[in-house]
Amino acid sequence: MPAVTVENPLLLPRITPVDPTADRPRLVSSVTTAPQGYEGEGFPVRRAFAGVDLRALDPFIHMDQMGEVEYGAGEPKGTPWHPHRGFETVTYMIDGEMAHQDSNGGGGLITNGDTQWMTAGGGILHIEAPPEHIVASGGLFHGLQLWVNLPRSLKFAQPRYQDIRGSKVALLSSDDGGALLRVIAGDLDGHAGPGSTHTPITIVHATLSPGASVTVPWRPDFNALVYVLGGDGTVGSKQRPIRSGQLAVLEDGDSITVAADAKQDSRHPNFDVVLLGGQPIREPVAMSGPFVMNTRAEVVQAFEDFRAGRLGSLPAAHGA
Ligand code: CO
Repeated sequence: MPAVTVENPLLLPRITPVDPTADRPRLVSSVTTAPQGYEGEGFPVRRAFAGVDLRALDPFIHMDQMGEVEYGAGEPKGTPWHPHRGFETVTYMIDGEMAHQDSNGGGGLITNGDTQWMTAGGGILHIEAPPEHIVASGGLFHGLQLWVNLPRSLKFAQPRYQDIRGSKVALLSSDDGGALLRVIAGDLDGHAGPGSTHTPITIVHATLSPGASVTVPWRPDFNALVYVLGGDGTVGSKQRPIRSGQLAVLEDGDSITVAADAKQDSRHPNFDVVLLGGQPIREPVAMSGPFVMNTRAEVVQAFEDFRAGRLGSLPAAHGA
């Protein structure tokens, strides 16, 4: 159950109902299933974008669903110190806590519903780890980490860190109260969420009650992706089935429709989806490990710069 929720969505501002005759609903072009993997020191992730052409993802590069996992005492894990260059990371903690620290002096605790934005830009080192009391106690851990590409002109932007509390997220309701919409970033139907990336994007986390559906307006110049965090439902006006751990890429159009099946399983009482879109950058992408550049030579240079210590140095008080 996501930490940021409300008793009665009908008390929230409601999104403007989409006129199906005036709008061009986005059709589904593909549905893929995210494979399981492990990140950092061994926390379970689902690679949400695996097998999808980068051109359909543009401006996004990579997304991991972290968990959802219920840790026992002593089990929570994080990442060691590692570098990045050439893009921005958006980390959204749905449930649980993660401590973050970077070589640029940024950092803090990201807890239940918080979002953290890190512009790696020209280069940064960072570490993400559960705080000590969470390692001791265990507990629920569920989040997302999204990589947003930077255009050539901003690959070497100044590193930046933004910490956004869950309470700052814009909360909206569908017309009948069946869907709660959390605007994590960008804008939905004129309602702005907190946080800003260099590349214009919109991220919405929607929770739909069993049997509920919602159609939201979507900028026609943005791409559109729907990823299912948990539950069963359909996506698109033609009701393509989609379930936990699946990603839909949508075609061009003005609106996105998602609907929850009337019957959900006991592990996922609601249909939880992330709606993602952004302005495509349309530049060549050369990526390897933690670096996302335009050419192979720039990736090789990034590895060399990392080895030479030019992406930053570890804060002395918090050695790895
Ligand atoms: Co990282």
